[in-house]
Amino acid sequence: MSADGSRRKRQGGKSIPASTEAAPGRVRTVKEIAAAANVSVATVSRALQRPEVVSEATRLHIQEVVKRLGYTPNALARNLRTARTRLIIALLPDIANPFFSQVIRGIEQVAHENGYSVLLGETQSSLVREQAYADMVAARQADGIITMSHRVPAIPIQGRLPVVNACEYVKDQQISSVYVDNVAGARAAVDYLVTLGHRDIAFIAGPPTSPICIDREQGYRLALEAARLPCNPALAALGDFSIEAGERAIELLLAQGQSFSAVFCSNDEMAIGAMRALASHGLRVPHDVSVVGFDDIRFSRYMTPSLTTVAQPKNALGREAMSMLIELLNDAEVPPRKRVLSADLVVRGSTAPCQARRG
Ligand code: RIB
Repeated sequence: MSADGSRRKRQGGKSIPASTEAAPGRVRTVKEIAAAANVSVATVSRALQRPEVVSEATRLHIQEVVKRLGYTPNALARNLRTARTRLIIALLPDIANPFFSQVIRGIEQVAHENGYSVLLGETQSSLVREQAYADMVAARQADGIITMSHRVPAIPIQGRLPVVNACEYVKDQQISSVYVDNVAGARAAVDYLVTLGHRDIAFIAGPPTSPICIDREQGYRLALEAARLPCNPALAALGDFSIEAGERAIELLLAQGQSFSAVFCSNDEMAIGAMRALASHGLRVPHDVSVVGFDDIRFSRYMTPSLTTVAQPKNALGREAMSMLIELLNDAEVPPRKRVLSADLVVRGSTAPCQARRG
């Protein structure tokens, strides 16, 4: 029996003063929780504000004491249950692609404004690497994921996945996404080439597994259809969004003897590769071949000639994705939504009216 008359009960190796048994309705202080849990007030506070710095056993013990005290649900109990790390993971397929840097800046801005930190995970489109980051969320080492690829990692947890898709989208209606209208953007690019008099317009596609690449190809086809131009499969080449893929695609089209006066590329990096390959064959941009990209990365305006492209609102994509994830982390019941932003054609020096047909 202690001096204040309370009796300590052995509880899982920890003693809990009998006087702190559940007193329904009575509001407890952190100090009382600390005494009941036989830990310091600082430990209780740490378990609430920064659960990642206390052991799982301590956090669970404090959670059990809070429950035993009959504490009415509030931020204290919620933080214990949810154990927010206030860390999110931004997954991207290719950290070398400058498109993502401006998206990540948008994510980071909103994260910082809301007291979150961001861990960058470059996956190189590896399922194994994606899963390793997903497991961090399952292990409560991170609160959620913004993925910038067309795949959502399987997170082995109950209920709604704390995942938002940015710049791409998946068919799963349960996953919120923010991306641009890729069909309209690609359509505007090829419509513009048609207005310049181009009739033989080549297309360098992105990875066929990505819904946004399928949409960009659809925009290309719709523009040709509207101009009553044939869609010649021999004028299409497959790429993987890299500069090298753009070079290879042009080499393939030229090797096949295809005559074309313009090429629409599914992203700027492949457009840069295409321009380099055209130059290596003595073909002048835009005099011999007009080139259009997609993204409007930083370097596009500094190319010679500067690249005509479809500008994605990269910072806005990142900011919106982080806002969606915070909304989801605060309320798992929030309905999933697809937010589609517009992408506008930016005309620069890599496009010009079609000259007399070559070849
Ligand atoms: O350049 C990388 C591409 O992948 C961009 O077009 C963007 O849509 C991203 O998803």
